[in-house]
Amino acid sequence: MDTANSRAITSNQLGVHADIPHLVAKYWQSTFLKPVAQHSAEAFAEVEKKLATFNGPLILDSCCGVGESTAELARRYPDALVVGIDKSAHRLGKHVFHSQSRAGEYLLVRADLNDFWRLAREAEWQPLKHFVLYPNPWPKKKHLGRRWHGAPVFPELVRLGGEIELRSNWPIYLQEFALALECCGIASKFEQLAESQNPITPFERKYQASKQRLWQLTADLRGAELVAPSEIARLTALAETNANVLKSAAQKTWPGDACGT
Ligand SMILES: C[S@@+](CC[C@H](N)C(=O)[O-])C[C@H]1O[C@@H](n2cnc3c(N)ncnc32)[C@H](O)[C@@H]1O
Repeated sequence: MDTANSRAITSNQLGVHADIPHLVAKYWQSTFLKPVAQHSAEAFAEVEKKLATFNGPLILDSCCGVGESTAELARRYPDALVVGIDKSAHRLGKHVFHSQSRAGEYLLVRADLNDFWRLAREAEWQPLKHFVLYPNPWPKKKHLGRRWHGAPVFPELVRLGGEIELRSNWPIYLQEFALALECCGIASKFEQLAESQNPITPFERKYQASKQRLWQLTADLRGAELVAPSEIARLTALAETNANVLKSAAQKTWPGDACGT
């Protein structure tokens, strides 16, 4: 991976997408029925088997890519079983295994998280922590439905519980995630990552080397419940106002600019 040449994200979206409250409410009140892929079910069964004989907390590292963060998290939480999940066999195949005795216990599985999170919920897993580090941002406005907080599986991710930690180089992704959580009655903390922080994933390393600012959102997902329809309407109106303000600010051409003063 070229480490110092990553360009910051550009988007035709200036702020949070105003459809988020509506989508969260819709998906929260419906059941996501897409059939589970065979390979996801097999991956899930493999982890279930491991969990049956494991006594300790469970930590999920969703979208783990090459699994570098999974190994690092296992080192940081030696009592836990850390499960890295990614859909890409290519990325997982690049993992460099670390000595399990030194690094704590972890395993990596190939699965679609649209399936895996649903299966984990059905099985009533209770992860202590859930990391989602640098999910694909899908920054085009029309791709909101591909971001985790705009997708039908979002309620399952929230209901899985635990303390969630997301990181991104696109602050709007995390602000949107915070809005989606607010629709489920969950408060979150949004902050910039320290520039001096040791990178724990290849993408984090690449963005840091390119001097991009990195962001983090953390939240405790316990007790999530969809807020009242009036609150969904209020959050939508707030997001729309915010979007309009940003749009008009971007469109404004100051007379001073035009004559170069
Ligand atoms: C931008 S990469 C980040 C990888 C890693 N966390 C890092 O920071 O280096 C996003 C990862 O999400 C994975 N991913 C995207 N959609 C997925 C899905 N539906 N199920 C499982 N993994 C998915 C991709 O395969 C990719 O490895």
